[in-house]
Amino acid sequence: MEIKEIIENRRIIKKFKQDPVDLDLLKSWLQVATWAPNHRMTEPWEVLFLGPDTRAKLNHKTNFGQAPIAIAILSKHGSTEIEKNENMVAVSCFIQNFMLLAWSNGVGTSWSSIGVAQSVRKMLHVADDYEVVGIFGVGYPEEIPLVKNRTKIDNKITHLD
Ligand SMILES: Cc1cc2nc3c(=O)[nH]c(=O)nc-3n(C[C@H](O)[C@H](O)[C@H](O)COP(=O)(O)O)c2cc1C
Repeated sequence: MEIKEIIENRRIIKKFKQDPVDLDLLKSWLQVATWAPNHRMTEPWEVLFLGPDTRAKLNHKTNFGQAPIAIAILSKHGSTEIEKNENMVAVSCFIQNFMLLAWSNGVGTSWSSIGVAQSVRKMLHVADDYEVVGIFGVGYPEEIPLVKNRTKIDNKITHLD
């Protein structure tokens, strides 16, 4: 698949098959994802693999679409608010790399924001100097949602003098 096709066709998956995803393969995508840009080489990403007990405690409404694997991706704070924001941006680049690599191998991802809740942070034993950027189901899609079209970029471009 061309990179353009991978980017355009990737969808957030809500329902997964039960077929397992090879863990080494998944880790290889996470490894490649680390080539994300990151200011001052902070490499702020960290990944938690969520086992069945943790998933049961989280009590997510669909259990992450019944994905065979669920991971939380964290961003470490910096020593200033600016560094904290920059690290979150770097982790977002890491996440997109990961999602696209998975998709190019036929594997989908869901994204849940429940990690912003203090109760969820506690269940995941997240230290105060980390943000939970998202919790992701990872697996082969059972269903691929319809495309949500994007606004033409011309509507988002301003030319300054
Ligand atoms: C920071 C962030 C948080 C998100 N949180 C959720 C979420 O809590 N639940 C959810 O279903 N999707 C979540 N999403 C995924 C978006 O809803 C999804 O990307 C959007 O609807 C467009 O769909 P597509 O990515 O399949 O094109 C999140 C995406 C981002 C970037």
